[in-house]
Amino acid sequence: MAALTDTFKRTINYVRISVTDRCDFRCVYCMAEDMTFIPRKDVLSFEQIELISQAFVELGVTSIRLTGGEPLIRKNIVDLVAKLNQLDGLNEITMTTNGSQLPQLAHGLKQAGLSRLNISLDSLKPERFKELTRTGDLQNVLVGIEAAKQAGFDRIKLNAVILRGRNDDEILDLVKFVRDQGIDISFIEEMPLGHIVEHDRSLAFMSSDDVRETIAQSYNIEPSEHTSSGPSRYWQFQSHSNSRLGFISPHSHNFCHECNRVRVTATGKLLLCLGNEHSVDLKQIMEQSEQPLLAVKQAISDAMHIKPERHHFDLEDDVQIVRFMNATGG
Ligand code: GTP
Ligand code: 5AD
Ligand code: SF4
Repeated sequence: MAALTDTFKRTINYVRISVTDRCDFRCVYCMAEDMTFIPRKDVLSFEQIELISQAFVELGVTSIRLTGGEPLIRKNIVDLVAKLNQLDGLNEITMTTNGSQLPQLAHGLKQAGLSRLNISLDSLKPERFKELTRTGDLQNVLVGIEAAKQAGFDRIKLNAVILRGRNDDEILDLVKFVRDQGIDISFIEEMPLGHIVEHDRSLAFMSSDDVRETIAQSYNIEPSEHTSSGPSRYWQFQSHSNSRLGFISPHSHNFCHECNRVRVTATGKLLLCLGNEHSVDLKQIMEQSEQPLLAVKQAISDAMHIKPERHHFDLEDDVQIVRFMNATGG
């Protein structure tokens, strides 16, 4: 099978596909309170997502992660997972979700062939959870996590964006929670996508090293050999727990030289890097071609030449990347 390789000799075998920019939450680091969402007519149809996925798989991609916005609020999302699961050559279909719809959907997703779930959770305090997500209900997400466990998902992983002065006092509570639940967690440094007003991103910045030092004061932890093909670097407990602690450090520990991924936005733009604007309009290409699969494959291969070497996030420069995370595809 062909392998996609970019100018910096990185193999691209992983694609993140955003199925919607909409979300039932409004997390402060991800969206403005008052968002204008993309008109539905501009969002990729399931048929188009399937075609793009097939093109990637035929080009050697083995892992697809569905993201958003919130992927589970897209109608009939379970059917899409089942369809993608039929693609020959795909090793895993994973999803990043806020968990709010898992009480109803976890079982169906597992049946449809979803391999792994990452669930965002930044606070275990109901009031604060509401403050950070603006609309979310903590209890509902906790029920969602339980539903995912009951459905048989293995190695469920939480994602927690740690913001100094907002939730850094909960690092140890989150660690205790994942140990008790027998699940994993990634601690994430906030990335400056979109202009936000709730906090000053440079003041709220907390490095992964500082998060890890906080944990190390209470637990004996050591680096783990585990990799998940993503930017997370893993640590583990020396005893009494299989839970893994991941650290995603776009600022303090650049991982771009190992990048194996590209993104497709909800409107079908192939985005070559989270922290750059280089993109190719796959939706337009497939709509204008008589042989859409061939045309999309060619466009993806060609795009490898414009994948940037790295992101350049600057916390002092708030409007560096104007698109919000929800429009980018988490
Ligand atoms: P696995 O390692 O497969 O479990 O997934 P993941 O951690 O790569 O995916 P997830 O969707 O849970 O993302 C966690 C965080 O990492 C989010 O904040 C993403 O935006 C961020 N992230 C994922 N991929 C990239 C990347 O290529 N570049 C940057 N800068 N951030 C990324
Ligand atoms: N910086 C870092 N992580 C973010 N996420 C959303 N916005 C940001 C940001 N600005 C995370 C969410 C979710 C994943 C999709 O991306 O918490 O876990
Ligand atoms: Fe929704 Fe996820 Fe963005 Fe929160 S981080 S608003 S849950 S897309």
